Amino acid sequence: MLPITLEFINRKSNMSVIVTGHEKGGTGKSVLATSFAARVIQSGATAVVVDTDATATSAGWNAIRDSRNILPVVPVVQQLVNPAPAIIELATKYDAVVVDVGARDYAKLRDLARICDLWIAPTTVGQGDLTSTVRLFEAISEFHALHKNGKIPFVVVFNRVSSTWNSSEELDAREFLEQMCQGIVILKSHIKERKAWRDAGRLGLGVSEMPSREAAKSIEEFESVYDEALLHHSKS
Ligand SMILES: Nc1ncnc2c1ncn2[C@@H]1O[C@H](COP(=O)(O)OP(=O)(O)O)[C@@H](O)[C@H]1O
Ligand SMILES: [Mg+2]
Repeated sequence: MLPITLEFINRKSNMSVIVTGHEKGGTGKSVLATSFAARVIQSGATAVVVDTDATATSAGWNAIRDSRNILPVVPVVQQLVNPAPAIIELATKYDAVVVDVGARDYAKLRDLARICDLWIAPTTVGQGDLTSTVRLFEAISEFHALHKNGKIPFVVVFNRVSSTWNSSEELDAREFLEQMCQGIVILKSHIKERKAWRDAGRLGLGVSEMPSREAAKSIEEFESVYDEALLHHSKS
C-alpha cells in the first residue's frame, strides 16, 4: 500500500480541496464531510469544513462540538453564495478544505468542479438517488475540461447500504451506474447503515472519534473509504 495520506499529498502541494457533493439530500454528504475533516485532523494535518448548503448540517455539527467542548477544534465556515473564492483562500491556510455541498446549483457546481482535488459523491442504492447520481455524473462530465488536470477526480461511494439487504442490491446499483455512466469510478469500499453515524452527528464527533466498542464496524468501513477515496485525489 502506498503511503497515500493527506500528509503525503500535502508534501507535494499545500492545496487540497475535497468536496462531498450530491444533488440529493440525505445521501451522507454532511456526515462524510465532517468525519473526513475530523479524520484529517486526527492524522496530524489541518482541515476546515466549508458548509455551502442552506441546511447547515455541518455548521450545526460544529455548534454541538463547541458546546460539548470537544477537541480538537474542527472549524466549519458557512459560505452559501459563491463559495469558490473563500475556498481558494482557505486552501492557502489549511492542508485540506472539505466542502459540504448540495449541488443543485449548476454555477456553484461548475466552480467547485474546477477547483476540487477530490469529489466524493455519496449515494444510497435507492433508485431515486441513483438517477440523481447519473445526472450529477453528466454535469460533472461537462465540466472536465475546466479542471486543471482535464479530468475531475470524481468518485461515488455507496452509503447507507443495509446489512440485511440481499447483497445483489448493491451489485445491481453498481451495474446500473456503470451502464449509465461510462467510466464512472465507484469505490469498492462502502458504508453500511449504522446507528454510529447518527450518533456521531448527534454528538458532534467524526465517526473515527466514536468509542470503538460502539462504532468498530463503522470506523472500519470509513477507514477503507477514506483510504480508497484518497487514492483518487488529483495529487496522489
Ligand atoms: N451510513 C449511515 N448510517 C446511518 N445513518 C446515516 C448514515 N449516513 C448518514 N446517515 C444519517 O442520515 C441523515 C442524513 O445524512 P447527512 O449527512 O445529513 O446527508 P446529506 O448531507 O447528504 O443531506 C443524518 O441523520 C445522518 O446521521
Ligand atoms: Mg447535508
